[in-house]
Amino acid sequence: MLEVDSELAAKVRQENIRMHNRDSRVYDMRHPYMRDKAFQESFQADLALMDSSLAHLEQVRVLDCGAGTGNLTLKFLDFGWRVTALDISGGMLEVLRAKVSNGGDRLETIEADAEEYLLRQESSFDVVAFGATLHHLPDYVAVLELACKALKPGGLLYITGEPALVEQVGPGEFRLLRLDEYLNVCYKMARRPQHILTVLGKLLNLSRRDEIDESLAEFHVDVGLDQDRCRAILEASGLTLLHFGSFGYFGFRLNRLLARLGRVELRSQFKLLARRD
Ligand SMILES: C[S@@+](CC[C@H](N)C(=O)[O-])C[C@H]1O[C@@H](n2cnc3c(N)ncnc32)[C@H](O)[C@@H]1O
Repeated sequence: MLEVDSELAAKVRQENIRMHNRDSRVYDMRHPYMRDKAFQESFQADLALMDSSLAHLEQVRVLDCGAGTGNLTLKFLDFGWRVTALDISGGMLEVLRAKVSNGGDRLETIEADAEEYLLRQESSFDVVAFGATLHHLPDYVAVLELACKALKPGGLLYITGEPALVEQVGPGEFRLLRLDEYLNVCYKMARRPQHILTVLGKLLNLSRRDEIDESLAEFHVDVGLDQDRCRAILEASGLTLLHFGSFGYFGFRLNRLLARLGRVELRSQFKLLARRD
């Protein structure tokens, strides 16, 4: 994992606040997984699995860490659960609150850093969920350990939409994914020629002084998260793995085409569900 001192950690958090506040109003439109049928259906299946494991509880209390504009939170609310939606970006939470039509009285939103919040939690939640959040955090290992402690006995940890380590994806698949990224950039430039200037600026390192450093905000995205290490942390914290899966990122066009033509899927993302004993 990337080494982080406190100064770098503060910058990573700051750039996340700036980037997500800037993008909050266009986030759903710009992120294809929010509309992707297969991704959303697979999440509904995971939710049903969680619900059956918690069926004995009268009220399920869930912490959605990095809740964003509510991709997971809104579905948890539809299940009748009580949700604490935590995010470091006030802008993202504002969009989430405006979208709630069902169960608003069961929703609490908290604008805070995940690590700082989790430090103060112990056996508090029946579910702790991370949807595409861990790769934004300075130290995802520390946060995972704290998340395990924040679970009540019998509680569930759910992670989805995290990029796997390059070595865990496989070099051939990784090259195809990179090619896919380039194709996506070309596609964007063909549709919006002004995008060429942004790309050229980035290549020539001509960024403005106040420009958001997205490589800090997306801190672990290029290297990925170590799935084996995540599983080892859960085991050491007394959790049992119930489900582990890898899947392709649906936003990429090549990925979609390959899946359609030959049922080949570039499995660059992972998800898991584990229960505290
Ligand atoms: C890729 S978005 C995912 C949002 C949502 N979970 C989903 O599934 O669509 C990641 C979210 O994590 C939040 N985030 C980033 N760093 C954070 C931190 N240190 N603590 C809490 N939330 C953070 C961002 O503001 C953003 O809303």
